[in-house]
Amino acid sequence: MILISRKQNMPAGAIFSLLLAVSIHQCFTNEVPPTVTASATSPPPVTPGLPERGNYNVTNATGTVCLLARMGLQLNISYLSSSHGKTVQEVMNLHPNITKTSGSCEPDNATLILTENNITLTFIFTLNSTLNKYHLSGLELLAALPNMSKMLFVSNTSLNYWVGTQGHSYMCRKEQTLNVTQDFSLNTFGLQVQPFGVSGDFGSAVECALDVDDMLIPIIVGAALAVLVLIVILAYLIGRNRSHAGYQTI
Ligand SMILES: *[C@@H]1O[C@H](CO)[C@@H](O)[C@H](O)[C@H]1NC(C)=O
Ligand SMILES: *[C@@H]1O[C@H](CO)[C@@H](O)[C@H](O)[C@H]1NC(C)=O
Ligand SMILES: *[C@@H]1O[C@H](CO)[C@@H](O)[C@H](O)[C@H]1NC(C)=O
Ligand SMILES: *[C@@H]1O[C@H](CO)[C@@H](O)[C@H](O)[C@H]1NC(C)=O
Ligand SMILES: *[C@@H]1O[C@H](CO)[C@@H](O)[C@H](O)[C@H]1NC(C)=O
Ligand SMILES: *[C@@H]1O[C@H](CO)[C@@H](O)[C@H](O)[C@H]1NC(C)=O
Ligand SMILES: *[C@@H]1O[C@H](CO)[C@@H](O)[C@H](O)[C@H]1NC(C)=O
Ligand SMILES: *[C@@H]1O[C@H](CO)[C@@H](O)[C@H](O)[C@H]1NC(C)=O
Ligand SMILES: *[C@@H]1O[C@H](CO)[C@@H](O)[C@H](O)[C@H]1NC(C)=O
Ligand SMILES: *[C@@H]1O[C@H](CO)[C@@H](O)[C@H](O)[C@H]1NC(C)=O
Repeated sequence: MILISRKQNMPAGAIFSLLLAVSIHQCFTNEVPPTVTASATSPPPVTPGLPERGNYNVTNATGTVCLLARMGLQLNISYLSSSHGKTVQEVMNLHPNITKTSGSCEPDNATLILTENNITLTFIFTLNSTLNKYHLSGLELLAALPNMSKMLFVSNTSLNYWVGTQGHSYMCRKEQTLNVTQDFSLNTFGLQVQPFGVSGDFGSAVECALDVDDMLIPIIVGAALAVLVLIVILAYLIGRNRSHAGYQTI
């Protein structure tokens, strides 16, 4: 008798906890997207739109690919405009179809040089071979735009961005801003680079903190949900045991 009543009670309890879980889940999922979209739309509108993603590969003397890079690039520069007579801020995208790639691969350093018309952007990577870690250690920009009162050259060789492990690639899906100097910052989109230890294609990727934060939200929501469902099931089981105990004493 008790066994039969248990079999009849279980589906009702399961359905109850399932409904509760679904309603809690909807509550969470309704709340999560606005915070995500709010952070994505909070920066002021970008004048030129999102940059196109380019594939920039460097080959060594024997024609083997030794540096791999895939990214969308947006320059943010300020310069003295000859036509305006004052300092202007300009945001411009690099266009992969008209960008030329060159560079070099040495044992402890590597460069990626991108040239589009009168703009030359150089990435300098450094490998610490004792730690087997690499990073983006320098960025240089040479630009001669029509309205510039003089050619712009900015360089910072004491940077520490894109820290990765040799043989692995560094990845950042989200927009990343690299501050170079007061006059120049670089926005990257859908980034994946591997400056050392390339064997054919990208090695497994280490994700940037921005991406990891994004993945943490669903993980936390999922964990919270699992705990809630567990509490509901436990509460149901305890409640049912108590009611059975009550029947037995009568
Ligand atoms: C460009 O840089 C300026 C000054 O650092 C900043 O206020 C602006 O938001 C930046 N724009 C973009 C699109 O990154
Ligand atoms: C070019 O890269 C390949 C693969 O990493 C390596 O075996 C070769 O020695 C390199 N050649 C030169 C000239 O650096
Ligand atoms: C490069 O691509 C852009 C669109 O991204 C296009 O407007 C432009 O005409 C292309 N230029 C060349 C030289 O193919
Ligand atoms: C890169 O490495 C080569 C050879 O190891 C060295 O001659 C050169 O000075 C290095 N360049 C930089 C910028 O460290
Ligand atoms: C490149 O620079 C030269 C000289 O500064 C200028 O005449 C030319 O118009 C520039 N080209 C582009 C595409 O900006
Ligand atoms: C590599 O990193 C270690 C620890 O940060 C440092 O002591 C060492 O000088 C670095 N080596 C090079 C070649 O930069
Ligand atoms: C250069 O200045 C003129 C006059 O203000 C402007 O019409 C033009 O768009 C500017 N060009 C660039 C590339 O900023
Ligand atoms: C770059 O500079 C801006 C302000 O100019 C700052 O808000 C931002 O945190 C800096 N980014 C990094 C990666 O240091
Ligand atoms: C170069 O970058 C470092 C690290 O981001 C920064 O502390 C330094 O002020 C920058 N140098 C210049 C000239 O802007
Ligand atoms: C660069 O290398 C990647 C990976 O090997 C490849 O998919 C891509 O087509 C290459 N791009 C160019 C321009 O060679």
